[in-house]
Amino acid sequence: MNFLEAGFVQGFIRMANDGWEQGWHERNGGNLSYRVKSREAESVKENFRAGDWQEIGTCVPGLAGEYFLVTGSGKYFRNVIIDPQDSLCMIELDEKGERYRIVWGLVNGGSPTSELPSHLMNHEVKKRVTQGGYRVIYHAHTPNVIALTFVLPLKDEVFTRELWEMATECPVVFPDGIGVVPWMVPGGREIAVATSKLMQEYDVAVWAHHGMFAAGEDFDLTFGLMHTVEKAAEILVKVRSMRPDKLQTIEPRDFRDLAKDFKVTLPEKFLYIR
Ligand code: 13P
Ligand code: ZN
Repeated sequence: MNFLEAGFVQGFIRMANDGWEQGWHERNGGNLSYRVKSREAESVKENFRAGDWQEIGTCVPGLAGEYFLVTGSGKYFRNVIIDPQDSLCMIELDEKGERYRIVWGLVNGGSPTSELPSHLMNHEVKKRVTQGGYRVIYHAHTPNVIALTFVLPLKDEVFTRELWEMATECPVVFPDGIGVVPWMVPGGREIAVATSKLMQEYDVAVWAHHGMFAAGEDFDLTFGLMHTVEKAAEILVKVRSMRPDKLQTIEPRDFRDLAKDFKVTLPEKFLYIR
């Protein structure tokens, strides 16, 4: 099968373009990765060429031998739809999960996203805790969430509770809450370790003064999660721009009622008394 005609490739390209249209990907900002199913990799392998093995910069034994479709470092989400062969690559991991090689894409040279350690360590955690259910990791430069990292305490409890209050569906969409990574140098193992630790518990990690990481089963759920969190943040920015306090809001007892009816478990640590 022609690589670009495969369903997972089409879904990846559509999601990247949706993110661009939301305004989350200035220049080369953000990156996306998909853990390819073995039958999907099999279906496009006639298009493969084997590049040289390269160091990942971290070790992900839980992903040994797997294939990933990822955005290239320095590539613009804006260009993915018109030139996917230039902007994206498929990589294969070695049998130890320490090195990768490009098997498709980046036809004009380059390497996978500089955030590959974070993507792969998040994939490794999510593959384990969801028994293989999660396949997508998405990093975006979402302006409203970034703005909030300048004015809210950088605490999981505060970000979760404040964003849950901004839209009734939020606790249903991200019942486990969201984690916050304080400002760190991006692109390396240290921030990857901090983020993947949060991914054991949450599907969303905020990077202070930088953006967000979201994880999910498929492209729709992961994009929808990013979109929901960023929209809640936009509402909070509007509320805080009007006045510093709220006259009324969704209260802890309301969240408990919602949890019952919507059959979700909302951890009590987020339902603190103000
Ligand atoms: P890449 O172009 O290497 O993917 O980096 C963009 C980015 O958002 C870094 O955090
Ligand atoms: Zn970034």
